[in-house]
Parts: sequence; C-alpha cells; structure tokens
Amino acid sequence: MKRNIFILLGIILSKILIAQNQLAIPTTLTGTVFNLNIQNGITQFYPGVNTATYGINGVLLGPTLIINKGDLVTLNVANNLTGNGNSTTMHWHGLHVAAMNDGGPHQLIKQGETWSPKFKMLNNAGTFWYHPHGLGKTDLHVVKGLTGMIIVKDSAEALLNLPRTYGVDDFPLVIQTKAFDVLNQVAIASNMDTSLFVNGTYNPYLNVPSQVVRFRVLNGSSSRTYNLGLSNGQNFYQIATDGGLLDSSLKLTRLVLSPGERAEILVDLTGKTGDKIYFKSFASELPIGIYGADSVGDLDNILHDYEDNLLNGSDFNILQLSVAAANSKPITTIINNLIPYKPFKIADATKYRTFVFDTLRLLPIDAPNRTDGPFGINNATFDIDVVNETVHLNTTEVWTLKNKTLLAHPFHIHDIHFNVIEKNGKAPMPSERGWKDVILVMPNDSVKFITKFETFADKITPYMYHCHILHHEDDGMMGSFVVIDTTATGVFNLEKNSFIVYPNPASNLLFIQLQNTTPFSEVFIQNVIGKIVLKQTIINSKTAEINIADIPAGQYLVRIISDKSEGVYKLIKL
Ligand code: C2O
Ligand code: CU
Ligand code: CU
Repeated sequence: MKRNIFILLGIILSKILIAQNQLAIPTTLTGTVFNLNIQNGITQFYPGVNTATYGINGVLLGPTLIINKGDLVTLNVANNLTGNGNSTTMHWHGLHVAAMNDGGPHQLIKQGETWSPKFKMLNNAGTFWYHPHGLGKTDLHVVKGLTGMIIVKDSAEALLNLPRTYGVDDFPLVIQTKAFDVLNQVAIASNMDTSLFVNGTYNPYLNVPSQVVRFRVLNGSSSRTYNLGLSNGQNFYQIATDGGLLDSSLKLTRLVLSPGERAEILVDLTGKTGDKIYFKSFASELPIGIYGADSVGDLDNILHDYEDNLLNGSDFNILQLSVAAANSKPITTIINNLIPYKPFKIADATKYRTFVFDTLRLLPIDAPNRTDGPFGINNATFDIDVVNETVHLNTTEVWTLKNKTLLAHPFHIHDIHFNVIEKNGKAPMPSERGWKDVILVMPNDSVKFITKFETFADKITPYMYHCHILHHEDDGMMGSFVVIDTTATGVFNLEKNSFIVYPNPASNLLFIQLQNTTPFSEVFIQNVIGKIVLKQTIINSKTAEINIADIPAGQYLVRIISDKSEGVYKLIKL
C-alpha cells in the first residue's frame, strides 16, 4: 500500500518535472529573393543549459521558404559562421536544379562569403528541405542546427480541398534527435542520440483545431528512422511523399520515415476537442537492422552504445496534439483523389546501373564488422575530384541498390525524383509510391528504381548520391555523377567555364547560366540555316533570361561565346 503511494507520487512528480513546451513553428520567407544568413547561436534546449548551435537567420534551424512553382528565385546564402575552417554549403534537398546551384560539396561558401544561386522553381507542390553538404561536415552542421523546410506551392495543389494555412491547419514537423557530450554540447557520429526535438523544441505540444489538419513531416535526423503512428490508434492519411502529392490519399496507422524522407499527412481531429493525442514512434515494431529498431547487426557485429540508447526499439512520444475548437474555415473531409501521375516506364529504360553498399576495411582483422562502417558504394569512398558515373541527358535509367551490410541505409540522389519499382522482387510499400528521392535499403535487400535525368546537363559539375545517415555520408558513403548532353555540339573549354541552357524544349523564357562570371558573354540563337534570330549579351553576370516567345517554333542552335569558352546547344522552341 505504502509502496503504491510512492509510485503514485513518483508519477505525479515526473509529470511536473517533464514540463511540456509549446512547439516552435519556424517563421516563413516568401517572394523571389531569399536572404539566408548562416550564423552561430546559443540555444537552451534544457532550461539553464547553454549549447552552441547554428541557425539560419536565428540561433537554431532556419525559416520555412515558401516558393511558387515557376518563380525565378535568388537565394543569397551568407556564411557568417565563426570559428576555424568553418566553410559550408547549402543544398536544396529534393529540388530539381542545375548542378552548380545544387549546393553539394563543390559549391563551397567560405566564411564571410555569400553564395547566390538563381534558378527557376521547376518542382511541383511538395515539401523539401535545405541543409549544408560540406565535405565531411554535413552531420556536424545539420545537428548543430542548419536545417530548414521548403514548401513549394503550385496551381494544381491549390485546387484541392486541403488544409494549407501555415501554422493554422498546415504544420511543419522537423523531427531530429541529438546526442550531447558531457559539456552539454552537440556530439556527432554518436549512437547516444537520446534527445528528441521537433522544430528544435524538446518534449513539445501543439494546439491543433478539431478538424482535418495537415502535417509536413521531415525526418531531419542524422541516423534515426521513425515508425510514426498516433497514440489513440486512429488512422491518418498520407497525401505526399518526397517529391510531392500522391495520386490518392493513403490510409495508414503507421508510416516508416528514414533520414531525409518527407511525408505530408492528414489527421482528422473532427469532434476531438479536449483530447490529447500523441504522435509516437512505434519503434518496437521496426524490423531489425534499421537504426532505431531494437537491434542492428548480430552478435559479432554490434553497434557501439546502441543497446544503451533507450529510444532504440521502444515506443516513444514525438509530439502531443492538444485538440482545441475548430477554426472558422475548417477542412472537414479527407479527399481521396490528389494528383494523377505517370510513372516512368520500364520499357523506356536504356541504361542499368548497380550500386553495392559494403563495409570498407583496410585490415582483415576488422573485416567482420558490418554495422559501424566505414561504408562504401561500389567499393569506393567519396573523392571530391572523381566523377563516379556519367549519365546522358534525357535517358531513362534503372538503378539497383544492393545492401551487403547489416544496417539499413537511406539512399538519396540529387537532381531527380524516382519511382521505386521493386524491393527484393516485391512491390515497394504503398507509402513509397510516387516521386521519391530517398529510399531505405534494408540489409541484404536489393531495391530497384527508375528515373530520367532531365533538364540540366553540365560536363563539369557533378550531383551527389549518398546514404542519408549523415556520418555515413561524411565518412564517404557517397558518389557523384555528371549529366552530359550528348546532343550538344561545339567547343568547350572545360577548364574555364561551362554553360547551362534550360529548359529545353522551351516556349517562353530561356535561362542561360554560366559557371563563372565573365565580364562579357554573348548568346546567339541561330536557326537551322545559320541565321541569327536573337542576340543577347551577358555583362558581368552568371545568369541571363532570354525571352524567346516571339521566335517561331522549331529547331535552333544556342551559341554562347565568352572570352574563355564557347558552347553550342540544340534548342527546341515549342
Ligand atoms: Cu539531403 Cu545530398 O542531401
Ligand atoms: Cu539532396
Ligand atoms: Cu548508411
């Protein structure tokens, strides 16, 4: 009896001590010019405890960028980090942009410098994100706080009866775990990521209206996979994957989300005023081998500290939804039909590639350990000066990913989205339909996806593919590919400059982009008999926008001549 009272007291006390915090909702930036200032900060994740962090326009995390499809945007990314050797980069994860605008390890932003990529938003409505991608530094920069969400809007999405008022019935959820060292500073490449944050808030709650609410969930964690579900067992509906909306809403009780993946989900909270419902990770149900499951590896292959991390294999809360009254214009139904999509056709694939994930060990004595890396892809670790794959523009390809390690790896590719064709000969999970840019590959699994490399070609600047467990990426589980335009003719002085011309085919605006600024470049558009139909000069700039609306439909050559190089492209005018 006495004992019971103590237990009861203990429960009451722990409830008082574990104070909940209102979920932070990142501020938004809209328009076509985005100023992102990367800076140092101090954050108190726990009251009274100072932790050094990084933020974008703040001390931790970054604003949500809201961008309309079709807009020509400029992102001014200023690196104002202090400390030694703190160069960084900024990658637009999931955006279809030219390699030189992609923010991979090659587009270094030195301290005190500003990098200003300018591009047309070609993606459909969806949830994307941005984070640094510096060579060997991604994990540190991301866990210290450099993560932000990108919401793309378009006219097709706008016609659907979906919640879309940011912070009212449409909420960003950036889920991340962190490990702390003895000095309460963020630790990387640690398996003791025991603290969970949503939008940087520890133990969060969110007041939500009793109606249909949309959540844009990003797993921005370094390693951890979540098995999302609701504490009251109610269904939720997935409406989008990495690359945008599904063709129809998918009814679920669980959703596995690995690092880098996004999902948009709808939860119907109608009639639930007063309820407290938790988003949880039902990690006890995760298959062995996934970081976050009860175990990874086997007796001979253990992951350091893994057993001591209480989040592994247990069910834990992510966010409390505290349901309040509905607001004035509630969405009350879950629509079924979203955006029809045409997946790539296997019959169109003309190129097949295989990527094998394996442990790289120099000493045979270490050979058995297949859980803690270092891991390589096709027996190689990342080399910034090497291009691993050369892809031809407008080619449909099938990529096979084979995992020979004892840990699941979330594979990510830049530039494009893909359709998963099969996992071990079977259909992928329904939640992996549609347009993906990250796919979790289980130990001993073989995953096939199909994609087409469209729009952007650049002989010099590569895109990346890699594991999105960030310390695996930093340790070299990454490769690069260039997309080359085999129909382009002419002279290229590759040492000096390269050009990008897009879109192609084009109807109204043609964008020209140079890798480096030249004082003076000329662009000529010639018809098939060599007559110049349009001429434009680019002065002291890397980019030009050419209005081609008035030239007749047909085939043309776009010739770009600068002091150091020349390029010729075949253009189809629609
Ligand atoms: Cu989210 Cu190559 O990255
Ligand atoms: Cu990416
Ligand atoms: Cu990995």
